[in-house]
Amino acid sequence: MEKTIAVIRGDGIGPEIVEQALRVLGRVEARFGHRFHYEDVWMGGCAIDRFGSSLPDEMLEAARRADAVLLGAVGGPKWDNVDKNNRPEKGLLRLRAGLGLYANLRPAQIFPQLASASPLREDIVARGIDFLIVRELTGGIYFGEHSTGEEGGEAVASDVLRYSEGEIRRIARQGFEAARKRRRKLCSVDKANVLDSSRLWRRIVGEMAADYPDVEVSHMYVDNCAMQIVRNPAQFDVIVTENMFGDILSDEASMITGSIGMIPSASLGEGGRGLYEPIHGSAPDIAGQDVANPVGTILSAAMLLRYSFGLGAEADAVEAAVSSVLEEGWRTADICAPGAQSVGCRRMGELIAERI
Ligand code: IPM
Ligand code: MG
Repeated sequence: MEKTIAVIRGDGIGPEIVEQALRVLGRVEARFGHRFHYEDVWMGGCAIDRFGSSLPDEMLEAARRADAVLLGAVGGPKWDNVDKNNRPEKGLLRLRAGLGLYANLRPAQIFPQLASASPLREDIVARGIDFLIVRELTGGIYFGEHSTGEEGGEAVASDVLRYSEGEIRRIARQGFEAARKRRRKLCSVDKANVLDSSRLWRRIVGEMAADYPDVEVSHMYVDNCAMQIVRNPAQFDVIVTENMFGDILSDEASMITGSIGMIPSASLGEGGRGLYEPIHGSAPDIAGQDVANPVGTILSAAMLLRYSFGLGAEADAVEAAVSSVLEEGWRTADICAPGAQSVGCRRMGELIAERI
């Protein structure tokens, strides 16, 4: 198979973790006889420094032309004071919207080898943590009208949370379909006791349930969900929710796995289009020191192979290699037991690549 991957290294630890994911992809090419072409795309703070824009139009075009996008991480304190419409995060939001990536899949999975790293009590972890958050990614309050002004002599600001029926339907469908491939349980999370947008959300998901009689559907308020994720995460299979609730809950969900550096994500649009990135940030404090954990990015590359290229066996091989390396006891600093010996970012990438 011959494909083009747009590669966004980004800021902070982005370049070093992406390098390791590319090493692993190189190994997949050799082992399975594929040819991947890589096109560098600049986005985030590094693009502001180089081109004056966090996502120049020609970069968005390049990402559009590619068969899939692999992203490290963007942002950092260096760009905290740039114009709000040109922040590194804005580049990411424009990229998501520009590629129509409305469905963000964020798995929360505990690696059995790392169970002791979870901050949750052992008996809670022992019941298992294996769920998927399906977050709506191109609508809601992130993309509603934002304004800052003055009224009656004081500053006011507002952000509009808006959803159309069509937007809800297509993300709910992703949730139902994902549940079908898993344990057939879908929990739709909203704030329908307060918000109109949530009441519409709940009605649409409720109506769609009739088309998926094999999926058990429940509805949960977002505040309760935040509590249930730490009280009894084993109850969840697939959670589907709007953009900002998903942003918040997915950070919480990653934390209970004890290893935010390990978790990949996929952002999908129509026709197999996808962007793949670890869910952690650019960690500027450890950038360039070869201590970052590249596994989240490597597992994102595995998701890319599976979802955008339909290469299931290749994705399995990458995931199995990660699992072997953990099984053998190799750890980067973030997942290392106190006092134990850790390996650097590059070495971790090499170990995983060698096992494919
Ligand atoms: C995420 C991040 C982004 C978001 C930021 C960087 C804009 O927190 O991917 O979860 O809020 O979506
Ligand atoms: Mg977030």
